[in-house]
Amino acid sequence: MSIAKPLPHDAAPLHVSGEARYIDDIPTPKGTLHLAFGLSEIAKGRIRTVDLDAVRAAPGVITVLTVPDLPFANDVSPSIHDEPLLAEDMVNYIGQPVYVVAATSHLAARKAARLGKIEYEELAPILTIEQALAADSRFEEGPRIYRKGDAEGAIASAQHVVEGSFELGGQEHFYLESQAAMTMPQEGGDMMVYSSTQHPTEIQHKVADALGVPMHAVRVEARRMGGGFGGKESQGNALAVACAVVSRMTGRACKMRYDRDDDMTITGKRHAFRISYRAGFDANGHIQGVSFLHHAICGWAQDLSLPVADRAMLHSDNAYLLPNALIESHRLKTNTQSATAYRGFGGPQGVVGIERVMDHAAHVLGIDPVELRQRNYYEPAHAAQPAQTKPPEPLGHADPHADLTSRGAVEQITHPRPVRPVPEEGNTTPYGMEVSDFELHGMTEALLASSDYAARRLAISAWNKENPIIKKGLGFSPVKFGISFTLTHLNQAGALVHVYQDGSVHLNHGGTEMGQGLFQKVAQVAAARFAIPPEMIRITATDTAKVPNTSATAASSGSDLNGMAVKAACDTIRDRMAVYLAEHHQADAGSVRFVDGHVEVSEASYSFAEAAALTYQGRVSLSATGFYKTPKIEWDRIKGHGRPFFYFAHGAALTEVAVDTLTGENRILRADILHDAGASLNPALDIGQVEGGYVQGAGWLTTEELVWDERGALRTHAPSTYKIPTCSDRPDIFNVALWDGENREDTIYRSKAVGEPPFMLGISAWLALSDAVAACGSTYPALNAPATAEEIWRGVRRVRDGA
Ligand code: MTE
Ligand code: MOS
Repeated sequence: MSIAKPLPHDAAPLHVSGEARYIDDIPTPKGTLHLAFGLSEIAKGRIRTVDLDAVRAAPGVITVLTVPDLPFANDVSPSIHDEPLLAEDMVNYIGQPVYVVAATSHLAARKAARLGKIEYEELAPILTIEQALAADSRFEEGPRIYRKGDAEGAIASAQHVVEGSFELGGQEHFYLESQAAMTMPQEGGDMMVYSSTQHPTEIQHKVADALGVPMHAVRVEARRMGGGFGGKESQGNALAVACAVVSRMTGRACKMRYDRDDDMTITGKRHAFRISYRAGFDANGHIQGVSFLHHAICGWAQDLSLPVADRAMLHSDNAYLLPNALIESHRLKTNTQSATAYRGFGGPQGVVGIERVMDHAAHVLGIDPVELRQRNYYEPAHAAQPAQTKPPEPLGHADPHADLTSRGAVEQITHPRPVRPVPEEGNTTPYGMEVSDFELHGMTEALLASSDYAARRLAISAWNKENPIIKKGLGFSPVKFGISFTLTHLNQAGALVHVYQDGSVHLNHGGTEMGQGLFQKVAQVAAARFAIPPEMIRITATDTAKVPNTSATAASSGSDLNGMAVKAACDTIRDRMAVYLAEHHQADAGSVRFVDGHVEVSEASYSFAEAAALTYQGRVSLSATGFYKTPKIEWDRIKGHGRPFFYFAHGAALTEVAVDTLTGENRILRADILHDAGASLNPALDIGQVEGGYVQGAGWLTTEELVWDERGALRTHAPSTYKIPTCSDRPDIFNVALWDGENREDTIYRSKAVGEPPFMLGISAWLALSDAVAACGSTYPALNAPATAEEIWRGVRRVRDGA
């Protein structure tokens, strides 16, 4: 069977040979126009005049459009229509498109786009959290709040209280293929759109509105993206709409792609947060209550900020059973790029918050940070009922009577873990969902053993005692990530499968391929349903004319949703074939077997191709659609209560770093990861997702720093100043394994979503850096993120000065 096989990515040979087609590789028709935006040069102001004479006169320019030239909707927002394609009278950030130039070449368009003269009435921009709060500049009236129990009371009466506040930076997606779209006008006013998008239906919808036509007049095709990472859920709308409008106006094909610095200047990024926390613990390290205050910097337009900020709240518990919790979230509107979806969709920010609390508490209480986490985990899946006591775990643990003030002196693992009373409401999240599939107890023990944690902890303590300059650190972080779109209706998918009379199969579904391997996994499902080799399945481009009304390929749910839809379509065809062949042989349809590329009925055995040909000759349809919707979920986002997630995916990571305390320079020496992909559909692709997610998460919290100047201009808009991890930043030792389990819920072959959860394993790198810095003294380092070399250097000073 093709399931669970570590097959390579279906397009790997095309990727490495350069044959894989991205938007910019599609051969263009004669007369194709190339587009570029003219951008706002100020962060906030009213447009007084726009002088485009020099733009129009520039070589190669065919036309230049401003708002009055747009035929219908001037709107590329994925949410509340607050994001015009071109600025109307106000500009809201440096980089906002004001006009669009169409020229005979990409370079001519870009050069001309710089020649416009815009006069503004400048207004004071809102760039910081303080400024936004002072102006009450936000996307929802007041904060959103989730409450469980009485957090404040529990913290007030706790034996130990930790509190603090830290900055958590945003992140540029840095997909290798920048945003791109191409349009080809068709007869009768129809429009064909090629887009590098995670959300073809959204592109179709926005283009239809901009052209004043029904959705049936617009067809969007997306074969693949050179990376999306959430940055192509909504940020591609502007390019596709601009191309479609100019195509309609000129009758010519149009293409637009952002150069890297335009992409970084124009498009939204991960939301930066400030997280403030207060948490109370008892002497055993059991958390009594925690309160979080999130300030999310959302940029100038709403985009997906509300569900992103919600997901941050929904992951503020991460792996821990919080008896009392208060989570308050402010969604601030600022004059910067409109922050958008990015791998984890706010979840990582929430998880960093509670991991910081655990790290801080472990430091203050002098309990091993892994042990402290284990003591606070949700109850394991099999024992997820309220209980007053639980038996001591076999592996044991820091002595609570050991020296509670100095870190590193408490590693005697001798005593049974202290018993925690489970709260009355049971094993529930702060938003009232029962956690019934928690895997992290076993996973953590397995990872501690395979990574030789205890011995390495001692070795590092010894190293740090002897070495004043280079300090080493270990960081452990678990992840529990909720799988499903929190907007419940998005949890649906469709598929279209054709079997041709030669037995070859054409596969289509609503998911998009961005490098994650979705197409291969879904093809493996189709191959398994028909019991034929994957080579007989033709993977085809996502196309709104084949499968309509799709959700974005996002929330890691691509294979869960589309895998199930494809299974349904294949099974329909398979059942029809079985019924027909059974009749033919006067057998029972239930007795027809699909095995090893063959169809067996009574004594006969046909090749799949013969069976397809016979079924066709019997005038039976060999084409079917399939549909799936996720069961069991319901969520009230205003109340903050319900079951937003079908299930949880888990992972655990241990990272070791070395820090040069004189300069703050640092390296990841080793990372050990155990990740829960359920019964993996394809372990090779899943391990690839885990490795990539970890590195991307570590990059977010270490080297990737976004800097805006006092005018609100993004200064880090190129790889010269914005540092993503490179191959050489990979951990020298990188041990990645999949947890041998299966989804307790009924997903496609009991697999689990794997796209986003491993991103949060990178948090262990940040914690390891904190651990290394902590070795410089006794004060908690309280690192901000990203922990760049400069921030680490500052942290070393703080710890040494005891400040
Ligand atoms: N992996 C690669 N190579 N490229 C990407 O753009 N996007 C991530 C993740 N893994 C991404 C990736 C994000 S943000 C999501 S939501 C999932 O893939 C989407 O795909 P899936 O639902 O099929 O996992
Ligand atoms: Mo992923 S952030 O859900 O596209």
